[in-house]
Amino acid sequence: MAHQVAILVGSLRKASFNRKTAHALIDLAPPSLQPQILEIGDLPLYNEDIDGDEPPAPWVTFREKLHAAEAVLFITPEYNRSVPGVLKNAIDVGSRPYGKSGFSGKPGGVISVSPGAIGGFGANHHLRQSLVFLDVLVLQQPEAYLGGAGQMFDENDQPTERTEQFLRKYVEAFEGWVKRFK
Ligand code: FNR
Repeated sequence: MAHQVAILVGSLRKASFNRKTAHALIDLAPPSLQPQILEIGDLPLYNEDIDGDEPPAPWVTFREKLHAAEAVLFITPEYNRSVPGVLKNAIDVGSRPYGKSGFSGKPGGVISVSPGAIGGFGANHHLRQSLVFLDVLVLQQPEAYLGGAGQMFDENDQPTERTEQFLRKYVEAFEGWVKRFK
């Protein structure tokens, strides 16, 4: 059985470079992985007051899907040298209720994508700080700070050869990483 991988994309933008990266990676994934984007755009902002017996339906669905995944892969832009609020909100929702986090002990990965030169390095490492606390076991190598996102895809939104080469290398390393825990 292929390992289910939940991909959390940190951008809601239709033409998002991060979403294109997620799709390219899904296309390149080996048969032993089953990566799927787990949508985060409809999650109400986390509020402990409403996290009782009947939490909002989108939280419930999201948590169920997150729990079902064996690994988590974050593909995110950098906003103000950190992760976009929409992604942090999804992480907060997925980490609760207390003691029932959907992240604990799972293998994970972080890819940051930016049109800028430093490839979202700040977001990538800010995110890793939360993942330490959440006990997500993050792949260390290859690191994935993808800069110059404007040149990563062709006019049909397909990855260029260079992009494909890197993503193939990354997803193969990620496959090896996930298998170490199974
Ligand atoms: C940005 N952007 C940005 N880029 C970067 O490299 N470092 C940064 O700190 C920021 N900060 C930032 C804040 C806000 C509020 C926005 C809207 C944008 C630019 C960002 O990388 C660019 O919009 C990307 O295209 C966003 O990723 P998607 O939507 O293409 O996946």
